[in-house]
Amino acid sequence: MIEKLQKLKEEALESLGKVKDLNSFREIEVKYLGRKGDLTNILRGVSELGDEEKRNVGKMANDIKMELFSKFEEVRNALEKKGNKDRFVDVTLPGKKIQKGHLHPNTIVQNELEYLFTSLGFMVFDGPELESDYYNFEALNIPKYHPARDMQDTFYIDKKNADSEYDLVMRTHTSSMQVRTMHKYGAPLRAMIAGRCFRNEATDVRHEHTFYQMEGFMIDKDINLSHLKGILETVAKHLYGPETKVRMRPKFYPFVEPGTNGEVTCFLCHGAGCRLCKYSGWLEIFGCGMIHPNVLRAGGIDPKEYSGYAFGFGLSRVVQLKYGIEDVRLFQSGDLRFLEQF
Ligand code: PHE
Repeated sequence: MIEKLQKLKEEALESLGKVKDLNSFREIEVKYLGRKGDLTNILRGVSELGDEEKRNVGKMANDIKMELFSKFEEVRNALEKKGNKDRFVDVTLPGKKIQKGHLHPNTIVQNELEYLFTSLGFMVFDGPELESDYYNFEALNIPKYHPARDMQDTFYIDKKNADSEYDLVMRTHTSSMQVRTMHKYGAPLRAMIAGRCFRNEATDVRHEHTFYQMEGFMIDKDINLSHLKGILETVAKHLYGPETKVRMRPKFYPFVEPGTNGEVTCFLCHGAGCRLCKYSGWLEIFGCGMIHPNVLRAGGIDPKEYSGYAFGFGLSRVVQLKYGIEDVRLFQSGDLRFLEQF
């Protein structure tokens, strides 16, 4: 066995001496020192020897192993150094493209509109997505068991708010912030809110259970419908260009009186009628109206002294129209093929 070890050592050192590059180095490293290599094979035999012999041969085998390891190490270091010196850096090669993150289309449009509203003197808020039944419904003139609740079915949380007698719901609209901000800031008040809302919806290309809304309202003395129409026109022109016209048609919302639907001329056909506007020439964008006296009262504001308008719209829908996105479900899909287009 001692002979075998000696022979192995000589052979290994000889081959090592002939090595020219890292590839051939790796080959002989595996052959001699690898897990299935020659040295390991011989060392395995040591355990079968008698005690006395085992001690002698074992020590020698170990010495040889250490020596070989350190020689191999030396040669490897030398080769690597040489390799580095020889490596040629071609500075004319095109660089690797660095992936940069960017804003979600919803966020882009939200930022633009927040900028517009702050320039008009509005304060910008977000608010709780898990909302008290009170702010989402009751304070907005939608009592429990009132049929108007059917307009916005949502997810009720089976837990009472610690300091309230009301249930918690996932907010169905950003209107839930109306009375909250009235409580905090009183009148006069100009506020806008953008954020996620939730509804118990069967999803399709135009409906999602989770979507974004934007809300604006203004309370002051002598605020009337013409102020509302003015702000709707400002927003519509900002979104769809200076040619855009706005019309208002009656619509029921429990928290406004009168309540209206704010419609804008279709930006695709400019009112002529096309597939996008279902050949009506108009796109329904805003839910709006004059804030109901009951809502002002709930907010601690005297409706005899103050009046206000409120409007809300689906930010997701506006973004969908602006970029011609066919399926609203793409927004939260996390699909990079979609997101990278913006
Ligand atoms: N909150 C209403 C909705 O989600 C929209 C709305 C806001 C209507 C403000 C009137 C006033 O449908």
